[in-house]
Amino acid sequence: MATIGVIAGDGVGPEVVEQGLAVLADVSRLDGKTFDLVSFNLGGERYLKTGEILPESVIADLRKCDAIFLGAVGHPGVAPGILEKGILLKLRFDFHQYVNLRPVKLFPGVETPIRGKGPEEIDMVVVRENNEDLYVGAGGFTYKGTPEEVAIQTSINTRAGVERVIRYAFELARQRGKVKPFRGLSDADKAKGQIGLVTMVAKTNVLTFAHDLWMRTFTEVSADYPDIKTDYNHVDACCMRMVVSPEKYDVIVTTNMFGDIITDLGAVLQGGMGLAASGNLNPLKTAPSMFEPVHGSAPDIAGKGIANPIAALLSVAMLLDHVDAPKGASAIRKAIGTVLAAGKPRTPDLGGTAKTAEVGAAVRAALEKNA
Ligand code: NAD
Ligand code: IPM
Ligand code: MN
Repeated sequence: MATIGVIAGDGVGPEVVEQGLAVLADVSRLDGKTFDLVSFNLGGERYLKTGEILPESVIADLRKCDAIFLGAVGHPGVAPGILEKGILLKLRFDFHQYVNLRPVKLFPGVETPIRGKGPEEIDMVVVRENNEDLYVGAGGFTYKGTPEEVAIQTSINTRAGVERVIRYAFELARQRGKVKPFRGLSDADKAKGQIGLVTMVAKTNVLTFAHDLWMRTFTEVSADYPDIKTDYNHVDACCMRMVVSPEKYDVIVTTNMFGDIITDLGAVLQGGMGLAASGNLNPLKTAPSMFEPVHGSAPDIAGKGIANPIAALLSVAMLLDHVDAPKGASAIRKAIGTVLAAGKPRTPDLGGTAKTAEVGAAVRAALEKNA
């Protein structure tokens, strides 16, 4: 048995979570597990009605879960940051989810806007630091609202925090390389026994304190992984390179802020926000990890029943991997592959006319057929 906390949240959150839970129910038997779902009413509506964002008692209940499945938070009627910081970031920090794992993988049959690139070229994972940097909320105002106003928001980077996420990236590259050596290695690399690549993405040419710490740590940690090749890109160049030569990436490790930005770009490479999944991981399992689509509450399409549920379904697959239900995870990925390769049904973001529920139903039908 595994207890899954469910935060449907705002906007399209509940629409895609509904499909995620239906798929979860269908695959639970594959790993001989039962999932006990506990729903948490959090988000804009609760806040507007009661003023509550994330009560301590709710945090305590969430902490008891084995994993959390989240739709999205963010409400047009609530000032930016209240729900995002108060719920999402609060949970990422409180539960020490220090890795934000964001795969960028193009499924066959899905069109990428990057000309001449296909699933062979677009298959990388971004390991985004998730507990530090500008996201800590260190800073404040003086003379707020006056012409002399000063606003400070500081990037916090600790040796321990940087090291643990970099180590995670190297371990992941090793794991990926053992399954299938990274396609971009030269014969000379292979002769050295290398199987994977970790590219650190930062801005060492400007952030000469914070990212000097990152670079020194990266270099030191890399010595423990002779089987993994290393590379470094400044974040601006990375944005260019992700578009021009995505095949040059295997595992990217980067800061919280840069990871946020480059993974929306990554989402586009893999067919759009409707397809990008993520896991906020506490690798030590001292608190639950949390799985969610990379996209937000999408207020522009909320309530229409046309949000693409696939990002949420892929997030459920990541959740299943985390709670030791790998058969369910691969069954979901395979069923999504079947539906995407068939070319329909597709929601409007992928050029189709289908509803969220039709895509969810098609994935469940494919699950049954593949079984
Ligand atoms: P967004 O990801 O919600 O939307 C960006 C664009 O992508 C929109 O045009 C939207 O229609 C489209 N899109 C997103 N998800 C889609 C889906 N499943 N299917 C089809 N199209 C989809 O980003 P935004 O507009 O910048 O933010 C909206 C709100 O969500 C804000 O309040 C923001 O703070 C919040 N947000 C929350 C999360 C989260 O909870 N993890 C993530 C990002 C943004
Ligand atoms: C994401 C989102 C969040 C982030 C926001 C909503 C706080 O953009 O998960 O990518 O910046 O991490
Ligand atoms: Mn983001």
